[in-house]
This record gives sequence, structure tokens and C-alpha cells, in this order.
Amino acid sequence: MKKIGSQVTIAIDGPAGSGKSTVARRIAEKLGLLYLDSGAMYRAVTVLAIRGKLAADSPELFEQVKACHIEFQDNGKTILLNAEDVSRQIRTPAVNRRVADVAKIPEIRHEIVKHQQRIGGEGSIIAEGRDLTTIVFPNADFKFYLDASVTERAKRRLAELQRQNVEITLAAVEAEITDRDEKDKTRAHSPLRAADDAIILDTTDKTINEVVDLIVATVCNAEIGSK
Ligand code: DC
Repeated sequence: MKKIGSQVTIAIDGPAGSGKSTVARRIAEKLGLLYLDSGAMYRAVTVLAIRGKLAADSPELFEQVKACHIEFQDNGKTILLNAEDVSRQIRTPAVNRRVADVAKIPEIRHEIVKHQQRIGGEGSIIAEGRDLTTIVFPNADFKFYLDASVTERAKRRLAELQRQNVEITLAAVEAEITDRDEKDKTRAHSPLRAADDAIILDTTDKTINEVVDLIVATVCNAEIGSK
């Protein structure tokens, strides 16, 4: 087990609305790790598809994905797509609707995974998103799979959208999440699933802080145990 301070990789996986982004961001701040929001990268390339009116599996989109530059700033809070801040655009309902279709294209995944692994090789990180524990960082020092009921996840997503002044009903968010879960779990390439050696945490009845504390305790106890 590696120590925090030497290079460490924590990978967090789980379905939409399981709280993984918020949890990962807070842990990054607490432990001083770089935060890698992998879903934001798939969302950014979905912006390219929408702007170019391109089909997810079109060669034009693939060429744009290969050529584009994606960068995180402000420890994951800001995402730059070809030097343009698209942090807000990647959270719009239009992107929510299209992103699962874009993220299931193997060629696009291949390019994004390469980029993620490069970032992971640069220092200690906490990385979050589908397939992070299984495909991107199969040798991560710590792997967690967060889950929660569909209704609870829809409520969380709704609160997040309301904060951004997006008008949408709980029923619509729940339908969107159910649809995305289905697409993410059944897609042929890198389907959403927990790695065999991941610690599974059901967060339905837990606050964000409780989940953060649980993960930090697990990581720090393992570090103490390794000394
Ligand atoms: O975590 P999120 O809701 O921001 O993810 C957006 C979409 O991207 C979602 O449909 C799952 C997909 N995704 C993926 O396929 N692989 C990842 N590593 C991260 C996200």
C-alpha cells in the first residue's frame, strides 16, 4: 500500500448521481490530491458533437476528439476545451441527453482514456467516473464504488440543476437517470460495473460528509497500517 505523499491513485466509480464528483472533489481538497473528473471529459467532447451537429459515431467527431485539447484548472472545477471554459455548458440538459451515446463509442473512449492515464502518471490523484476502477486505473491503490437508489440520485441531481437555474421536474430527472444507467450498464465497451476488488458504498442514507469521512478513514488507516 502506498503512502499519501508518495504517488497515490484513488479511483471512484459508480452510476450518475451517486455523489462521486462531490465526494472526490472534497477528498482531493482534504488530502491535497489532483482531482480528475473523467465524466467532464466525455461531456466536453459531447459539446463538440452538439456544436458540429455530428453523430456520436461520425469520423468527423472522432477527428475533432483526437485533435482537441482538454485541460483542468482550479483542481477540477474548471474545464477548458481548446482553451475555452466549457464548465457550465457541459452540465446542460442537452449534454445530459447526448453524453451516454458519445461515451459508448470505443474510438472516443480510447482517446479519452489515454489522456486520463497521462494525467494519472503525473502525480497523486483522485479520479472519478465510469470504468475508472476497471479500465483506466485497474491498479489504483484504492478503489471505491458508490451507489444509491434511483430516487435518491435523481433528487441529488435535481438539486444540482436547480442551483444552476435549470428548470426540470424530479420525474424527468429520474427518467433521464434510469435511461442513462441502462445505456451505461449495457453498452458493449467499458460498461458500468464495480471492479471485483472495489469497496462498495451505498450512499442512499449517507450525507456527502459521511461518505468523504469513510473514504478518508479507509485511505488513512491503510497508510498507517503500512507503516
Ligand atoms: O459522471 P457524469 O454524469 O459526468 O458522466 C457523464 C457521462 O459520461 C455518463 O453517461 C457516463 C459517461 N462516462 C463514461 O462513460 N466513462 C467515464 N469514465 C466517465 C463518464
